[in-house]
Amino acid sequence: MPAEIQDNGLREILRRYPTGVTIVTALLDGKPWGGTMNSFTSVSLDPPLIAIFVMEKGRTTTAINQTGKFVVNILKFNQEKEAKQFASDNVPDKFLDVSYRESSNGIPIIEGSLGYIECDLYDAKKISDHIMFLGKVTRSEVTIDEEALVFYRRAFRSFTGTV
Ligand SMILES: Cc1cc2nc3c(=O)[nH]c(=O)nc-3n(C[C@H](O)[C@H](O)[C@H](O)COP(=O)(O)O)c2cc1C
Repeated sequence: MPAEIQDNGLREILRRYPTGVTIVTALLDGKPWGGTMNSFTSVSLDPPLIAIFVMEKGRTTTAINQTGKFVVNILKFNQEKEAKQFASDNVPDKFLDVSYRESSNGIPIIEGSLGYIECDLYDAKKISDHIMFLGKVTRSEVTIDEEALVFYRRAFRSFTGTV
């Protein structure tokens, strides 16, 4: 049965909604961990809150719950390799060949990203098979003022210009 019939075309329309790409980093058993996430959105400026939606059974969920601290790294157009690496369940070391430094709260900040948002866990809610994590922003910085990596129609892309 075609996917359109199974889900009323939901996947097809969602694929046509472009998003940025982030790697959400945290510490898992005290060691650097990260997962590629495009379900990132701003929530409010006062207080400064952001949200991500993470699979309940994934290790990123475990990592965020362990310390209550995480960083959202906003990827630059040339970080497709990092996006794929952190989306893979099979890599022995997610940080292989990835440079990072530590945030003020000890969480990895991925070098070469556009910028990062350090968060303290503000609230969490189970929604279906995902957890909605609300993060209170403790620090944020644009580190490289260049174009973002974009995910659209199941492919990583970069902007080609203004309309
Ligand atoms: C472009 C892209 C966006 C993704 N966005 C999310 C997301 O928002 N939430 C999520 O739970 N997984 C998302 N994933 C899948 C995770 O990156 C993948 O499951 C990864 O292994 C996370 O590690 P974990 O499952 O051990 O936590 C995305 C994957 C890709 C390629």
